[in-house]
Amino acid sequence: MASKKSPAKGRQAGVKGRKATAVEAELSLPEAPEVKAIEEDSSPTSLPMPEPEGAPLPAKPVAKAKKTAKADAQEPTGKIESEQAKAAKPRMLSGLSPRPKPSGNPYQPMIATVLEYIRETPNICTLRVRLDALGAMESFEFEPGQVGQLSVFGAGEATFVINSPPSQKDYLQFSVMRTGEVTDAIHRLAAGAKVGVRAPLGNYFPYADWKGRNVFFIGGGIGMAPIRTIMLYLLEHKADYGKISLLYGARSPRDMAYSYELDAWKHNPDLDCTLCIDNPDAEWGERVGLIPTVLKELKPSPENCVAVLCGPPIMIKFTLEALEALGFAPENIFTTLEKRMKCGIGICGRCNIGDRYVCVDGPVFSLKELQGLPPEL
Ligand SMILES: Cc1cc2nc3c(=O)[nH]c(=O)nc-3n(C[C@H](O)[C@H](O)[C@H](O)COP(=O)(O)OP(=O)(O)OC[C@H]3O[C@@H](n4cnc5c(N)ncnc54)[C@H](O)[C@@H]3O)c2cc1C
Ligand code: FES
Repeated sequence: MASKKSPAKGRQAGVKGRKATAVEAELSLPEAPEVKAIEEDSSPTSLPMPEPEGAPLPAKPVAKAKKTAKADAQEPTGKIESEQAKAAKPRMLSGLSPRPKPSGNPYQPMIATVLEYIRETPNICTLRVRLDALGAMESFEFEPGQVGQLSVFGAGEATFVINSPPSQKDYLQFSVMRTGEVTDAIHRLAAGAKVGVRAPLGNYFPYADWKGRNVFFIGGGIGMAPIRTIMLYLLEHKADYGKISLLYGARSPRDMAYSYELDAWKHNPDLDCTLCIDNPDAEWGERVGLIPTVLKELKPSPENCVAVLCGPPIMIKFTLEALEALGFAPENIFTTLEKRMKCGIGICGRCNIGDRYVCVDGPVFSLKELQGLPPEL
């Protein structure tokens, strides 16, 4: 093993001051990297942007943003947000979710502005976006694990988990791995760009059921995005939970997203944080090895413990095997599915697995629930 240098060290150049969020302040997080367009590709975006005036912005988006899961539960208006909120209840083992009955245009996004563009890794960027409509950010509510459809005008729309904690009211954060057309367009955005947001969509982690229990998070690569949200949420509510652990792995130090937060996570007394990579460099001072291997070394006890894992399919496959070998029961293992989505609201049928729609019955599933689905993943 190399020197004890922190993995985050040396990667905080260009840090620029910004207002710390409640959870960041509590975790003593360092400031985020400077807002900037692109390090690899400095060309400004050539994507068409919507007109700042005349676009169908405030009225409906504000109304949509005001709808919340909790509010909707008490307000049976039959509007799309109510149905989405109902669909967002944890539904493990309890059958199909209610299918949305949208009113109005469910495909009309809220318009938002990119506040910050953070270059995380060579192929992952993070956008912090603020809903434009007056009061929309303040009234927007979501649950950890829910996703949004992010659109770049003229390029298309794709699904990403909202990875800021729900307590963050200044912006919504999305981390995006470049894989194709839309994600490439997102990577070419810069602060100030306009995007569309349809959110919140889908269900969420059943954290209420985890109270009093230990929670072991496992994030691989971009899979750290959904883990980040639920982990920050649980740390904000630490008194309700037992030991909270994180195993976060990536290919190499430069492939670790949120590098500017890792020191704070490592030193947070409420979090037992283990970092690992496959290919170390000379400065890497943490563990080396694939996530399933390191997991077996850590040997978390399944006693009164829930495991939550997100990452690429190959990592999920072998990590699930490792968790089961350690004695974790399928009902105590949770993950998210990234089956491709289109409408995001249970209409188009694009995301089905058997009789389940990932967009409304997921993306969060227990392993027990997945074992009951057809092998289409
Ligand atoms: C519930 C959910 C949450 C997600 N959260 C995130 C997130 O937080 N961050 C993130 O970076 N990505 C996330 N994704 C994946 C993201 O939606 C896709 O990478 C994106 O839609 C690709 O769009 P594109 O137009 O750039 O790629 P395309 O041009 O459409 O496709 C490029 C290549 O990627 C493959 N591909 C595209 N989407 C998927 C997918 N969902 N699963 C497997 N292969 C795919 C295609 O088959 C093709 O080979 C999530 C997906 C879902 C369904
Ligand atoms: S994406 Fe259309 S039904 Fe799920």
